[in-house]
This record gives sequence, structure tokens and C-alpha cells, in this order.
Amino acid sequence: MSPTKKPEDLRSARWFAPDDLRSFGHRSRMMQLGYAEEDFRGKPIIGILNTWSELNSCHGHFPERVENVRRGVLASGGFAVEMPALSVDESFTKPTSMLYRNMLAMETEEMIRCHPLDGVVLMGGCDKTTPGLLMGAITADVPAIYLPAGPMLRGNCAGRILGSGSDAWKYWDERRAGNVTDEEWLGVQGGIARSAGTCMTMGTAATMMSIAEALGMTLPGASSIPAVDAGHQRMATDCGRRIVDMVWEDLKPSDILGEAAFHNAAKVAMATGCSTNAVVHLIAMARRAGVDLTLDHLDALGRTTPLIANVRPSGKDYLMEDFYYAGGLRALMKQMEAMLDTCVVTVSGKTLGETIDSAEVYNDDVIRPLSNPVYKEGSLALLRGNLCPDGAVIKPAACDPKYHVHEGPALVFDSYPEMKKAVDDETLEVTPDHVMVLRNAGPLGGPGFPEWGMLPIPKALIKRGHRDMLRLSDARMSGTSYGACVLHMAPEAFVGGPLALLKTGDTVRLDLPNRRLDMLVDEAEIERRKAAWTAPEPRYQRGWGYMFSKHVTQADKGCDFDFLERGFGEAAGEPDIF
Ligand code: FES
Repeated sequence: MSPTKKPEDLRSARWFAPDDLRSFGHRSRMMQLGYAEEDFRGKPIIGILNTWSELNSCHGHFPERVENVRRGVLASGGFAVEMPALSVDESFTKPTSMLYRNMLAMETEEMIRCHPLDGVVLMGGCDKTTPGLLMGAITADVPAIYLPAGPMLRGNCAGRILGSGSDAWKYWDERRAGNVTDEEWLGVQGGIARSAGTCMTMGTAATMMSIAEALGMTLPGASSIPAVDAGHQRMATDCGRRIVDMVWEDLKPSDILGEAAFHNAAKVAMATGCSTNAVVHLIAMARRAGVDLTLDHLDALGRTTPLIANVRPSGKDYLMEDFYYAGGLRALMKQMEAMLDTCVVTVSGKTLGETIDSAEVYNDDVIRPLSNPVYKEGSLALLRGNLCPDGAVIKPAACDPKYHVHEGPALVFDSYPEMKKAVDDETLEVTPDHVMVLRNAGPLGGPGFPEWGMLPIPKALIKRGHRDMLRLSDARMSGTSYGACVLHMAPEAFVGGPLALLKTGDTVRLDLPNRRLDMLVDEAEIERRKAAWTAPEPRYQRGWGYMFSKHVTQADKGCDFDFLERGFGEAAGEPDIF
């Protein structure tokens, strides 16, 4: 693409160019920082939005990557400023990082809006950071490149390869069954996360980084490079170089993120065996971009998109490091090229088709051909029924097929502590046919929509050799989780959704082929229960949680705040009067 902007057209010129007292102050304070005028005046000023913190183990390499990006910006004639953004680490944040995705989105939007930035490099990767940064950047609509953190190396312990999350759940169940010693358990603890980078199964982080690339918001191939590979450093520098050109070209998110880009991203997500969380984040990002993407669209795309990435937990054998060696996301997109709109433009300035033209698959057991998929449909299915009139999601490929059509008695828990106590009770009366239910765990009830949806199998069943059962909740689950778990049931129980009316002993029926989930309870009885239902006390009376609970939308709408669901450019296009 050819440059369209001149130095006097730069957004930062509003701060630094005028001969007035405000601009004198801006220039003077830059000089206080040690810069001469020629360092920054008339040059694209690039914000490096860095979600690093000492408590975000997935972003441990970011201090070095900032310098890699800066090197690229300077080499291309720009001026780089690092700006910290909320880290939203997945591992330590209570009650759940999802409570803070919108905070990062707001922060990103406002950081860009209020500062003299001509373009931004967004550095994220750990689950909520990708959608949070992108949602803010979509609304701000200045030139932006997403730099994914990249996955960590494969886990390793006593000669066994370990996958993030998935193997933690697996070995925890075996430990509860008495099959894992303390020494073995400590080995898993030390070996399952052994380098900087995000979880290396196709969990939420790898899913969302792949989606960012499929949307066209990363440089080609960026989402699959392991975090500690030297190629990741070079990619960071390329991002720095490229964002400067994007500023001169005036290539903004609104030039990239149309309906076709979101449909591409949804299909690629389905083909990767994506996290169920992709549904919520894709819808939230699309709504920011003014694109109408619904659960029904996603279900239709899922039915026609085979799962071809043989990466755990939906795939059987491999991890993200293997996926990278097999060719990475470019190779996967090349494999499904006929299903994508390859004419869309990407941050590289090239079309998607041009960016994948030379991609090759180096191991077709990891990245399968469409003719030999891991699973014939996409990895997610969307359900409706009298238990979830506004939708629910399930990951068919990651659960035992015998549960795809299932009928059984409900075993209902109103809170996480109540459920936790029951599943550890070896005398609990439960059979493999039971349908275990956790409610009041949605966006408002959780609070914050926690990842509690992979309900632990009761010890009473674990001891008898069972490792899966049908489970329902209005919670989410980790992208590294698996099993017959129905999630995101909307409306959630806490606001009076039908899940609130279900009773222990009621019969529940899942009919996955027909996308139905129902309680087999007489309609008049449901109405009686509805009339008797009373709303619980709000979770918050003050602070961020109060604001969150006043404005968060339900799962089927993406859980953005109702007052932020706007189109492009709302933030950066404010009247030039300040
Ligand atoms: Fe950060 Fe999984 S904990 S990506």
C-alpha cells in the first residue's frame, strides 16, 4: 500500500505542532523526558501497549519484546513509547479474569484516545488480554498491530509430555482416585509450565491469538511462534517496523475488520478446535466493529467447518509447539483456503490470500487435510431449548459421544462451595446418568462469569472408573478443559433464566444433533416455579463489580458493557476541542 499521510496529518501533530501554550507544554515535557524535538516531531508516535506484570507468568518475556518492537519502530523512522496496560493474568486473578476483560478494553480505548499516539502495537496473549486489547483498539480505530505472546514450550515430566490445563485436570482426577503419588504430583506441578508464553494446548489463549491472526490483526504467522523462539523476537521487531508504515498508509482496524474477516476468524477457530470462550469474545469484538455475529451464525459456520488441527484438548495428540513445527496457522488457513474469503486485507497490507500463498503443511497428522479431519464438524455447537432460550455452548469433539444424546435426572447445586463439598463426598448418591448442574455462575451470578463449567466428576463416580458425565452450567470453562459440559446457558440463573427453575430429580434431555437442551417439566409447573422465583441479593454494592453488574450483557451478546457496544472510531474521533 502507498503512503497517504504527511507529517502534518499525524494525530500526534495535534499535540506537538501548534505554536500555542498547550503544545509548548507538550514539547517541553518530552524534552524533560530527555528527547530532542527531532526525536519525535513529525514522526509516527507508536504506543507499545504492554500487558506485562510480575504476576503474569505467560508474559514473562514481554520486557525483552518491548525492546524488540522499539528497535523496529526506530529503524522505520518512528518514535516508540511503552505504556503499561492491565495485565489480566489468568492464573492468579480472583474471582475470574473475565471480570476484568472489559476493564482492559476500556483502558486500551482511553489510553489510545487521550495520548498523542499515531499507531499502537498491542502486546497480549494470556486469555482475556487478546479480546480486551482488540476491543479497545477497534473502538479507538487508530492503526494497530496485535503482537501475540506465543505459546510456552511443551510441558515435560518423567519422560511424559504435559499439556497446559488438560493434564492438570487429568492428573487431578487420577490423584483423587488414588492413582498418583505425592512425588508424581509434584513432578507434574514443576513440569507443566516450563517457559514464558501462554498455555500450549488449544485453550483460550491459543484460540484467541489464532483468531487475531485470522482476523488480519497480526503479521502472517505471528500467532503460532513459541514465545521463547528467536523467531518471536524477530516477529516483534517486524511489528515495530510495520506499524510505522501502517500509520503513513492510514491502515486502520476499520479497514480490516468487516463481516468477511469475522466469518474467516470464526471458521478458523472452528477448524482449530477452539476454546468455548471464543464464542463470547468473537461476538463482543464483532459488535464493537458493527458486525452482526450471533450464536446462530457461529453454529451454522461450525456445522460446515471440519476440525483439522489435531491439537489438544479437542485433538488427540499434539500441542502448540507441534502445530508450529507443522506449519502453524498459515498452513492451517492454506489447508482450508477454499472456505475463506482470501480477498480481505490484513495489517501486513497484503490480502489474506497473499499472506498464506507460500504456506505449507509439514506434518499432516498435526494439521489434517479437509478430507481427513479430526472431527467432521467444527469444534463448537450452540444449543437452545427451554433451559437456555438465549443459547448455550458445548464442545462435541471434546466429550464422550455417548453423551451427545442423553436423558437423565438433574443434580442441582446453587453455588460453587455447595457443589465442591458434594463432589468430594464419597457417599453422594449419583450415577453416570445423572446430569450435574451448577447455577448462579454466569456474568452476574459468578460474579464475573468464572471458568467453573467443567464441574469435577463426583469422587463417588471417579472411584468407580468414570471420567465423564453430562454437566450443565451458566459458567464458562477453561479452553484447556474437556468433557460433556454445556456452558454459557443464557439467560443465567441469577437474573431468573430458566436454569433457576430446575430442581434436583427433574429429567434433562440433551439432543446435540438437533441442538436442543430441555427440562422435561410440564409447562404449567414451569410457570408456577417462575412466579415463585425471587431475585437474589446483588453481588456488589460498590466499585468495579458494581459498575460491571449494572452494564454487562449476557453471554449470547458477548458480555461487553451495554454503553461500549459502538462502532469504529468512537474514541479517537472525539471533537478536537481539548
Ligand atoms: Fe495465561 Fe493460560 S494462564 S494463557
